[in-house]
Amino acid sequence: MSLEGRELILGVTGSIAAYKAVYLLRELTRLGASVSVCLSEHAREFVGALTFRTLSGRPVLSNLFDPQSTDAVEHVALAERCHAVVVAPATANVLAKAAHGIADDFLTTLLLAARAPVLMVPAMDGGMWDHPAVAANVVTLRRRGVTVLEPDTGALASGQSGKGRFPEVDDIVEALRRLLAPVRDLAGDRLLVTAGPTREPIDPVRYISNRSSGKMGYGLAVAALRRGAEVTLISGPTALTPPPGAVFVPVQTAEDMREAVLQHLDRATIVVKAAAVADYRTKQASSVKIKGKRDLTLELTPNPDILAEVAARGTTAFVVGFAAETHDVAEHARAKLESKGIDLLVANDVSQQGIGFDAEDNEVLLLDRWGGTRELPRMPKAAVADAILSHVLGLRAGITRKTPA
Ligand code: CTP
Repeated sequence: MSLEGRELILGVTGSIAAYKAVYLLRELTRLGASVSVCLSEHAREFVGALTFRTLSGRPVLSNLFDPQSTDAVEHVALAERCHAVVVAPATANVLAKAAHGIADDFLTTLLLAARAPVLMVPAMDGGMWDHPAVAANVVTLRRRGVTVLEPDTGALASGQSGKGRFPEVDDIVEALRRLLAPVRDLAGDRLLVTAGPTREPIDPVRYISNRSSGKMGYGLAVAALRRGAEVTLISGPTALTPPPGAVFVPVQTAEDMREAVLQHLDRATIVVKAAAVADYRTKQASSVKIKGKRDLTLELTPNPDILAEVAARGTTAFVVGFAAETHDVAEHARAKLESKGIDLLVANDVSQQGIGFDAEDNEVLLLDRWGGTRELPRMPKAAVADAILSHVLGLRAGITRKTPA
Protein backbone atom coordinates (compact mmCIF):
# COMPACT_ATOMS: atom_id res chain seq x y z
CA MET A 1 0.00 0.00 0.00
CA SER A 2 1.40 3.34 -0.96
CA LEU A 3 1.01 6.25 1.40
CA GLU A 4 0.14 8.60 -1.46
CA GLY A 5 -2.31 11.28 -0.35
CA ARG A 6 -1.75 10.57 3.34
CA GLU A 7 -1.18 13.55 5.58
CA LEU A 8 0.93 12.53 8.58
CA ILE A 9 2.41 14.21 11.63
CA LEU A 10 5.71 12.78 12.83
CA GLY A 11 6.49 13.75 16.41
CA VAL A 12 10.11 13.25 17.47
CA THR A 13 11.05 13.34 21.15
CA GLY A 14 14.37 13.45 23.01
CA SER A 15 15.74 9.94 22.86
CA ILE A 16 19.15 8.94 21.58
CA ALA A 17 17.16 7.09 18.86
CA ALA A 18 15.92 10.48 17.52
CA TYR A 19 18.35 10.22 14.57
CA LYS A 20 16.52 7.06 13.48
CA ALA A 21 13.40 9.17 12.93
CA VAL A 22 15.26 10.62 9.95
CA TYR A 23 15.26 7.17 8.28
CA LEU A 24 11.59 6.76 9.13
CA LEU A 25 10.76 10.14 7.63
CA ARG A 26 12.70 9.28 4.47
CA GLU A 27 10.74 6.02 4.09
CA LEU A 28 7.37 7.71 4.72
CA THR A 29 8.01 10.36 2.08
CA ARG A 30 9.39 7.72 -0.34
CA LEU A 31 6.05 5.92 0.01
CA GLY A 32 4.23 9.13 -0.94
CA ALA A 33 3.11 10.52 2.43
CA SER A 34 3.09 14.25 3.16
CA VAL A 35 4.73 14.62 6.55
CA SER A 36 4.84 17.52 9.00
CA VAL A 37 7.54 16.97 11.59
CA CYS A 38 7.17 18.22 15.12
CA LEU A 39 10.33 18.21 17.27
CA SER A 40 10.21 18.40 21.04
CA GLU A 41 12.68 20.75 22.68
CA HIS A 42 14.75 17.81 23.89
CA ALA A 43 14.73 16.18 20.44
CA ARG A 44 16.52 19.30 19.14
CA GLU A 45 19.43 18.44 21.43
CA PHE A 46 19.88 15.19 19.52
CA VAL A 47 19.03 16.11 15.92
CA GLY A 48 18.89 19.29 13.86
CA ALA A 49 15.63 20.71 12.56
CA LEU A 50 17.26 21.43 9.19
CA THR A 51 17.56 17.70 8.40
CA PHE A 52 13.83 17.16 8.97
CA ARG A 53 12.90 20.35 7.17
CA THR A 54 14.90 19.33 4.11
CA LEU A 55 13.59 15.77 3.99
CA SER A 56 9.95 16.66 4.63
CA GLY A 57 10.00 19.78 2.46
CA ARG A 58 8.03 21.57 5.17
CA PRO A 59 8.86 23.82 8.11
CA VAL A 60 9.46 21.96 11.35
CA LEU A 61 6.91 22.62 14.08
CA SER A 62 8.19 23.11 17.55
CA ASN A 63 7.51 26.26 19.47
CA LEU A 64 3.95 26.71 20.63
CA PHE A 65 4.73 29.96 22.40
CA ASP A 66 6.71 31.83 19.74
CA PRO A 67 4.81 35.13 19.19
CA GLN A 68 6.22 35.41 15.63
CA SER A 69 4.84 32.04 14.67
CA THR A 70 1.41 31.19 13.31
CA ASP A 71 2.06 27.55 14.23
CA ALA A 72 0.08 27.82 17.44
CA VAL A 73 -3.16 28.50 15.59
CA GLU A 74 -2.37 26.06 12.85
CA HIS A 75 -1.69 23.12 15.10
CA VAL A 76 -5.35 22.42 15.72
CA ALA A 77 -6.16 22.53 12.00
CA LEU A 78 -3.20 20.31 11.22
CA ALA A 79 -4.11 17.84 13.94
CA GLU A 80 -7.68 17.75 12.66
CA ARG A 81 -6.87 17.14 9.04
CA CYS A 82 -4.04 14.61 9.37
CA HIS A 83 -4.66 10.87 8.83
CA ALA A 84 -2.34 9.70 11.61
CA VAL A 85 0.11 10.97 14.22
CA VAL A 86 3.29 8.94 14.68
CA VAL A 87 5.48 9.67 17.70
CA ALA A 88 8.87 8.09 17.01
CA PRO A 89 10.88 7.78 19.11
CA ALA A 90 8.51 8.22 22.03
CA THR A 91 10.28 8.75 25.35
CA ALA A 92 8.94 7.64 28.74
CA ASN A 93 8.25 11.34 29.30
CA VAL A 94 5.98 11.81 26.27
CA LEU A 95 4.15 8.54 27.06
CA ALA A 96 3.48 9.87 30.56
CA LYS A 97 2.29 13.26 29.31
CA ALA A 98 0.02 11.69 26.68
CA ALA A 99 -1.41 9.24 29.21
CA HIS A 100 -2.28 12.08 31.58
CA GLY A 101 -3.41 14.64 29.01
CA ILE A 102 -0.60 17.10 29.77
CA ALA A 103 -0.14 19.64 26.97
CA ASP A 104 2.92 21.78 27.69
CA ASP A 105 4.52 21.92 24.26
CA PHE A 106 3.53 21.74 20.62
CA LEU A 107 3.58 17.96 20.26
CA THR A 108 1.64 17.15 23.43
CA THR A 109 -0.91 19.87 22.62
CA LEU A 110 -1.27 18.41 19.16
CA LEU A 111 -1.82 14.93 20.65
CA LEU A 112 -4.81 16.29 22.52
CA ALA A 113 -6.19 18.05 19.47
CA ALA A 114 -5.71 15.09 17.11
CA ARG A 115 -8.75 13.02 16.15
CA ALA A 116 -6.70 10.74 13.89
CA PRO A 117 -5.22 7.43 15.08
CA VAL A 118 -2.00 7.73 17.07
CA LEU A 119 1.00 5.39 16.83
CA MET A 120 3.60 5.59 19.59
CA VAL A 121 7.02 4.05 18.97
CA PRO A 122 8.79 3.91 22.34
CA ALA A 123 12.56 3.84 22.61
CA MET A 124 14.29 4.17 25.94
CA ASP A 125 17.30 3.03 27.87
CA GLY A 126 18.30 1.29 31.04
CA GLY A 127 15.26 -0.77 31.92
CA MET A 128 12.91 2.26 31.83
CA TRP A 129 10.46 0.31 29.67
CA ASP A 130 10.00 -2.16 32.52
CA HIS A 131 9.34 0.51 35.15
CA PRO A 132 5.82 0.15 36.58
CA ALA A 133 5.07 3.83 35.88
CA VAL A 134 5.91 3.43 32.19
CA ALA A 135 4.01 0.14 31.99
CA ALA A 136 0.93 1.75 33.57
CA ASN A 137 1.06 4.68 31.11
CA VAL A 138 1.32 2.27 28.18
CA VAL A 139 -1.73 0.37 29.47
CA THR A 140 -3.69 3.65 29.81
CA LEU A 141 -2.81 4.70 26.27
CA ARG A 142 -3.60 1.30 24.75
CA ARG A 143 -6.94 1.19 26.53
CA ARG A 144 -7.72 4.57 25.04
CA GLY A 145 -7.10 3.18 21.55
CA VAL A 146 -3.55 4.46 21.01
CA THR A 147 -1.31 1.92 19.28
CA VAL A 148 1.90 1.58 21.30
CA LEU A 149 4.49 -0.61 19.60
CA GLU A 150 6.68 -2.92 21.68
CA PRO A 151 10.32 -1.80 21.55
CA ASP A 152 12.89 -4.26 20.22
CA THR A 153 15.25 -6.13 22.51
CA GLY A 154 19.04 -5.90 22.12
CA ALA A 155 22.00 -3.62 22.74
CA LEU A 156 21.01 -0.23 24.16
CA ALA A 157 22.85 3.07 23.85
CA SER A 158 24.12 2.81 27.42
CA GLY A 159 25.98 -0.38 26.57
CA GLN A 160 23.44 -2.46 28.47
CA SER A 161 21.26 -4.99 26.77
CA GLY A 162 17.48 -5.13 27.17
CA LYS A 163 14.12 -4.10 25.82
CA GLY A 164 13.97 -0.52 24.67
CA ARG A 165 15.43 -0.37 21.17
CA PHE A 166 13.74 1.62 18.42
CA PRO A 167 11.99 -0.95 16.17
CA GLU A 168 12.93 -1.49 12.52
CA VAL A 169 11.57 1.17 10.16
CA ASP A 170 9.71 -1.52 8.14
CA ASP A 171 7.87 -2.68 11.28
CA ILE A 172 6.82 0.89 12.07
CA VAL A 173 5.56 1.43 8.52
CA GLU A 174 3.65 -1.87 8.68
CA ALA A 175 1.97 -0.83 11.95
CA LEU A 176 1.09 2.52 10.40
CA ARG A 177 -0.46 0.80 7.37
CA ARG A 178 -2.64 -1.33 9.64
CA LEU A 179 -3.71 1.78 11.47
CA LEU A 180 -4.61 3.61 8.26
CA ALA A 181 -6.49 0.71 6.70
CA PRO A 182 -8.02 -1.33 9.49
CA VAL A 183 -9.13 -4.82 8.58
CA ARG A 184 -12.95 -4.93 8.38
CA ASP A 185 -13.25 -8.72 8.22
CA LEU A 186 -16.12 -8.83 10.75
CA ALA A 187 -18.35 -6.41 8.80
CA GLY A 188 -21.82 -8.00 8.71
CA ASP A 189 -21.22 -10.06 11.87
CA ARG A 190 -23.13 -9.44 15.07
CA LEU A 191 -21.19 -10.38 18.19
CA LEU A 192 -22.75 -11.10 21.52
CA VAL A 193 -20.02 -10.79 24.17
CA THR A 194 -20.39 -11.42 27.90
CA ALA A 195 -17.75 -10.07 30.26
CA GLY A 196 -16.81 -9.56 33.87
CA PRO A 197 -17.96 -11.35 37.00
CA THR A 198 -21.51 -11.76 38.24
CA ARG A 199 -22.56 -10.72 41.74
CA GLU A 200 -24.86 -12.96 43.72
CA PRO A 201 -26.38 -11.14 46.71
CA ILE A 202 -26.13 -12.51 50.25
CA ASP A 203 -27.92 -9.53 51.78
CA PRO A 204 -28.35 -5.87 50.70
CA VAL A 205 -24.64 -5.08 51.25
CA ARG A 206 -22.79 -8.35 50.61
CA TYR A 207 -22.37 -10.60 47.65
CA ILE A 208 -20.55 -13.63 46.23
CA SER A 209 -18.37 -12.85 43.23
CA ASN A 210 -14.95 -13.58 41.72
CA ARG A 211 -11.76 -11.82 40.59
CA SER A 212 -12.71 -11.32 36.94
CA SER A 213 -11.89 -7.77 35.77
CA GLY A 214 -13.75 -7.97 32.45
CA LYS A 215 -10.62 -6.94 30.50
CA MET A 216 -10.66 -9.95 28.17
CA GLY A 217 -14.35 -9.54 27.24
CA TYR A 218 -14.05 -5.77 26.80
CA GLY A 219 -10.91 -6.33 24.68
CA LEU A 220 -12.90 -8.69 22.45
CA ALA A 221 -15.70 -6.14 22.11
CA VAL A 222 -13.23 -3.36 21.15
CA ALA A 223 -11.42 -5.59 18.62
CA ALA A 224 -14.68 -6.78 17.04
CA LEU A 225 -15.99 -3.20 16.72
CA ARG A 226 -12.75 -2.11 15.09
CA ARG A 227 -13.05 -5.01 12.64
CA GLY A 228 -16.52 -3.90 11.59
CA ALA A 229 -18.86 -6.05 13.72
CA GLU A 230 -21.97 -4.91 15.52
CA VAL A 231 -21.37 -5.68 19.18
CA THR A 232 -23.67 -6.26 22.13
CA LEU A 233 -21.70 -6.35 25.38
CA ILE A 234 -23.47 -7.91 28.35
CA SER A 235 -21.34 -7.16 31.37
CA GLY A 236 -21.30 -7.84 35.05
CA PRO A 237 -19.96 -5.04 37.31
CA THR A 238 -16.43 -3.93 36.31
CA ALA A 239 -14.30 -0.81 36.60
CA LEU A 240 -14.07 -0.50 32.80
CA THR A 241 -15.70 2.03 30.47
CA PRO A 242 -18.02 0.43 27.90
CA PRO A 243 -16.52 0.75 24.40
CA PRO A 244 -18.20 3.47 22.33
CA GLY A 245 -20.27 1.91 19.56
CA ALA A 246 -21.30 -1.23 21.45
CA VAL A 247 -24.82 -1.89 22.68
CA PHE A 248 -24.10 -2.11 26.40
CA VAL A 249 -26.24 -4.21 28.73
CA PRO A 250 -25.14 -4.01 32.38
CA VAL A 251 -26.19 -6.92 34.61
CA GLN A 252 -25.55 -8.04 38.18
CA THR A 253 -26.44 -11.69 38.73
CA ALA A 254 -26.05 -14.85 36.65
CA GLU A 255 -29.81 -14.97 36.25
CA ASP A 256 -29.84 -11.38 34.89
CA MET A 257 -27.04 -12.35 32.52
CA ARG A 258 -28.90 -15.45 31.33
CA GLU A 259 -32.00 -13.40 30.60
CA ALA A 260 -30.02 -10.75 28.68
CA VAL A 261 -28.11 -13.38 26.67
CA LEU A 262 -31.28 -15.25 25.67
CA GLN A 263 -32.93 -11.99 24.72
CA HIS A 264 -30.09 -11.01 22.35
CA LEU A 265 -29.19 -14.50 21.10
CA ASP A 266 -31.36 -14.61 17.99
CA ARG A 267 -29.55 -11.73 16.29
CA ALA A 268 -26.04 -12.98 17.06
CA THR A 269 -23.76 -14.62 14.48
CA ILE A 270 -20.95 -15.13 17.01
CA VAL A 271 -21.39 -15.59 20.77
CA VAL A 272 -18.35 -15.13 23.02
CA LYS A 273 -18.88 -15.96 26.67
CA ALA A 274 -15.88 -14.41 28.37
CA ALA A 275 -17.83 -13.71 31.58
CA ALA A 276 -16.84 -15.47 34.79
CA VAL A 277 -20.31 -16.45 35.88
CA ALA A 278 -20.58 -17.27 39.60
CA ASP A 279 -21.32 -20.97 39.82
CA TYR A 280 -23.49 -20.57 42.91
CA ARG A 281 -25.98 -18.13 44.36
CA THR A 282 -27.56 -18.08 47.79
CA LYS A 283 -30.77 -20.04 47.90
CA GLN A 284 -32.46 -17.12 49.58
CA ALA A 285 -30.73 -13.74 49.84
CA SER A 286 -31.58 -11.92 53.07
CA SER A 287 -33.68 -8.80 52.54
CA VAL A 288 -32.05 -7.14 55.56
CA LYS A 289 -28.38 -6.82 56.52
CA ILE A 290 -27.22 -9.94 58.36
CA LYS A 291 -26.04 -8.92 61.88
CA GLY A 292 -23.75 -10.42 64.47
CA LYS A 293 -20.35 -12.01 64.87
CA ARG A 294 -21.39 -15.62 64.91
CA ASP A 295 -20.94 -18.58 62.64
CA LEU A 296 -23.03 -18.28 59.57
CA THR A 297 -23.98 -20.98 57.10
CA LEU A 298 -25.06 -19.92 53.64
CA GLU A 299 -27.11 -22.34 51.63
CA LEU A 300 -26.02 -22.14 48.00
CA THR A 301 -27.68 -23.41 44.88
CA PRO A 302 -26.10 -23.76 41.40
CA ASN A 303 -26.65 -21.02 38.84
CA PRO A 304 -27.92 -21.91 35.37
CA ASP A 305 -25.12 -22.77 32.93
CA ILE A 306 -25.78 -20.06 30.35
CA LEU A 307 -23.22 -21.32 27.86
CA ALA A 308 -24.54 -24.88 27.83
CA GLU A 309 -28.06 -23.55 27.45
CA VAL A 310 -27.07 -21.36 24.47
CA ALA A 311 -25.50 -24.36 22.74
CA ALA A 312 -28.42 -26.65 23.61
CA ARG A 313 -30.86 -24.23 21.97
CA GLY A 314 -29.33 -25.10 18.61
CA THR A 315 -28.27 -21.54 17.81
CA THR A 316 -26.83 -20.98 14.35
CA ALA A 317 -24.24 -18.62 15.87
CA PHE A 318 -20.61 -19.72 16.31
CA VAL A 319 -20.29 -20.25 20.07
CA VAL A 320 -17.06 -19.54 21.97
CA GLY A 321 -16.64 -20.31 25.66
CA PHE A 322 -13.85 -19.59 28.10
CA ALA A 323 -12.44 -21.89 30.74
CA ALA A 324 -10.57 -20.81 33.82
CA GLU A 325 -8.50 -23.75 35.03
CA THR A 326 -5.80 -24.15 37.65
CA HIS A 327 -4.40 -27.58 36.67
CA ASP A 328 -4.49 -30.14 33.83
CA VAL A 329 -5.70 -27.29 31.63
CA ALA A 330 -5.86 -29.15 28.30
CA GLU A 331 -7.78 -32.20 29.63
CA HIS A 332 -10.28 -30.17 31.63
CA ALA A 333 -10.77 -27.78 28.74
CA ARG A 334 -11.38 -30.58 26.21
CA ALA A 335 -13.95 -32.15 28.57
CA LYS A 336 -15.63 -28.75 29.08
CA LEU A 337 -15.79 -28.11 25.31
CA GLU A 338 -17.52 -31.44 24.78
CA SER A 339 -19.88 -31.28 27.74
CA LYS A 340 -21.06 -27.79 26.80
CA GLY A 341 -21.42 -28.64 23.11
CA ILE A 342 -19.78 -25.43 21.88
CA ASP A 343 -17.56 -24.68 18.84
CA LEU A 344 -14.45 -23.22 20.45
CA LEU A 345 -13.08 -23.09 23.98
CA VAL A 346 -10.47 -20.56 25.09
CA ALA A 347 -8.68 -22.03 28.10
CA ASN A 348 -6.38 -20.17 30.44
CA ASP A 349 -4.41 -21.27 33.45
CA VAL A 350 -5.53 -18.91 36.21
CA SER A 351 -2.97 -20.26 38.67
CA GLN A 352 -0.15 -18.48 36.78
CA GLN A 353 1.02 -15.02 37.87
CA GLY A 354 0.56 -12.17 35.40
CA ILE A 355 -1.97 -13.80 33.10
CA GLY A 356 -5.67 -14.57 33.16
CA PHE A 357 -7.78 -13.16 35.98
CA ASP A 358 -7.40 -9.44 36.54
CA ALA A 359 -4.14 -9.32 34.53
CA GLU A 360 -3.13 -7.26 31.48
CA ASP A 361 -1.80 -10.27 29.58
CA ASN A 362 -3.16 -13.65 28.72
CA GLU A 363 -1.73 -16.91 27.44
CA VAL A 364 -4.40 -19.24 26.13
CA LEU A 365 -5.07 -22.57 24.51
CA LEU A 366 -7.70 -22.71 21.77
CA LEU A 367 -9.55 -26.01 21.43
CA ASP A 368 -12.16 -26.52 18.74
CA ARG A 369 -14.91 -29.08 18.31
CA TRP A 370 -13.20 -30.55 15.23
CA GLY A 371 -10.27 -31.74 17.37
CA GLY A 372 -7.89 -28.85 16.67
CA THR A 373 -5.71 -27.25 19.36
CA ARG A 374 -3.71 -24.04 19.11
CA GLU A 375 -1.50 -22.49 21.74
CA LEU A 376 -1.15 -18.71 21.76
CA PRO A 377 1.95 -17.21 23.40
CA ARG A 378 1.63 -14.73 26.25
CA MET A 379 0.54 -11.33 24.91
CA PRO A 380 -1.56 -8.28 25.88
CA LYS A 381 -5.28 -9.07 26.07
CA ALA A 382 -5.99 -6.79 23.08
CA ALA A 383 -3.73 -8.95 20.90
CA VAL A 384 -5.24 -12.17 22.32
CA ALA A 385 -8.68 -10.79 21.41
CA ASP A 386 -7.63 -10.23 17.79
CA ALA A 387 -6.07 -13.70 17.58
CA ILE A 388 -9.25 -15.35 18.95
CA LEU A 389 -11.44 -13.48 16.45
CA SER A 390 -9.14 -14.42 13.55
CA HIS A 391 -9.23 -18.05 14.70
CA VAL A 392 -13.05 -18.00 14.78
CA LEU A 393 -13.13 -16.61 11.23
CA GLY A 394 -10.66 -19.26 10.06
CA LEU A 395 -12.67 -22.11 11.61
CA ARG A 396 -15.93 -20.74 10.25
CA ALA A 397 -14.50 -20.47 6.75
CA GLY A 398 -13.39 -24.12 7.08
CA ILE A 399 -16.91 -25.22 8.02
CA THR A 400 -18.38 -23.28 5.10
CA ARG A 401 -15.97 -24.96 2.70
CA LYS A 402 -16.98 -28.40 4.01
CA THR A 403 -20.70 -27.66 3.55
CA PRO A 404 -21.93 -28.80 0.10
CA ALA A 405 -23.40 -25.96 -1.99
N1 CTP B 1 -20.50 -20.25 32.12
C1 CTP B 1 -21.84 -19.94 31.97
N2 CTP B 1 -22.70 -20.11 32.99
C2 CTP B 1 -22.29 -20.60 34.18
C3 CTP B 1 -20.91 -20.93 34.36
C4 CTP B 1 -20.05 -20.74 33.32
O1 CTP B 1 -22.22 -19.49 30.88
N3 CTP B 1 -23.15 -20.76 35.16
C5 CTP B 1 -19.58 -20.09 30.98
C6 CTP B 1 -18.50 -19.05 31.18
O2 CTP B 1 -18.91 -17.79 30.68
C7 CTP B 1 -17.35 -19.62 30.38
C8 CTP B 1 -17.57 -21.12 30.47
O3 CTP B 1 -18.92 -21.31 30.84
O4 CTP B 1 -17.44 -19.26 29.01
C9 CTP B 1 -16.71 -21.87 31.43
O5 CTP B 1 -16.65 -21.26 32.68
P1 CTP B 1 -15.85 -21.95 33.88
O6 CTP B 1 -16.17 -21.18 35.13
O7 CTP B 1 -14.43 -22.17 33.51
O8 CTP B 1 -16.50 -23.38 33.90
P2 CTP B 1 -17.69 -24.00 34.65
O9 CTP B 1 -18.70 -24.42 33.64
O10 CTP B 1 -18.17 -23.12 35.75
O11 CTP B 1 -16.98 -25.33 35.24
P3 CTP B 1 -16.06 -25.49 36.55
O12 CTP B 1 -16.30 -24.30 37.44
O13 CTP B 1 -16.53 -26.77 37.11
O14 CTP B 1 -14.64 -25.57 36.05
